Amino acid sequence: MNSLTAVSKAELIEAIRNCGSDNEEYFGYPVKEDGLFLQQDPEEFASFVEYLVTKCPPSELSCEVGIAAGGNTKFVRDYYDVKKTIIVDIGLHPQHFNWKRIKPQVKTEFVLEVIDDSHSANVRKQLLPYAGQIDYAFVDGDHTYKGLRQDIFLMKEVLKPGAIMTLHDTAAVEDCHNVYLDLLKSKDFELQANFISRFGISVWKFVGTKNVTSNMFNRRFGWGNL
Ligand SMILES: C[S@@+](CC[C@H](N)C(=O)[O-])C[C@H]1O[C@@H](n2cnc3c(N)ncnc32)[C@H](O)[C@@H]1O
Repeated sequence: MNSLTAVSKAELIEAIRNCGSDNEEYFGYPVKEDGLFLQQDPEEFASFVEYLVTKCPPSELSCEVGIAAGGNTKFVRDYYDVKKTIIVDIGLHPQHFNWKRIKPQVKTEFVLEVIDDSHSANVRKQLLPYAGQIDYAFVDGDHTYKGLRQDIFLMKEVLKPGAIMTLHDTAAVEDCHNVYLDLLKSKDFELQANFISRFGISVWKFVGTKNVTSNMFNRRFGWGNL
């Protein structure tokens, strides 16, 4: 049972706006110095969080690729029950320093935090002990066609059959949209929901098998069938 039962979408939208954005001009709601620096459209993100809470089982083990300040990581877990979390970020975002402040507020147990390039051998080595165990992934790191495909090949190695994988910007960023089109043809992912008010949050179910191993072409170039 998730925690959101009594919160309406209008309340979620208000809560998102109150947590503060990364850039008022771009996202349309104020930046707050002690806030979450969210890089999300309130309507779209509220619809996504509502979907997670009302349609998805609580998560036992999650993985976030690309957290920036970590505001999204915190906000989602205020409502959606996530027992354990792994985060991966290259650590170069100008607001990443806020993660130190935000991390203790996140309702989850952090089992692994990797500050490195998600395409590196080091990240893969640290994630592989969790192969087949991740039931909720949010992928919002490298937004290039090649880079996002590399991240999805990595996720396929750690996702549990039936897991939820969410991608951000699959409507607004051309490269991410092209990966979205590739995923529609994938035999291992099924589109579950698609929230498009502005950036595009697409939610996929991993219907592949447990022991998917990536090959060198998947890892180095993002080539292959997703
Ligand atoms: C768009 S921001 C993430 C926003 C965040 N998910 C949110 O909703 O507030 C993208 C993040 O991905 C990180 N990133 C970009 N390329 C990466 C890579 N190759 N490996 C790991 N992290 C990466 C950036 O440093 C940045 O923090």
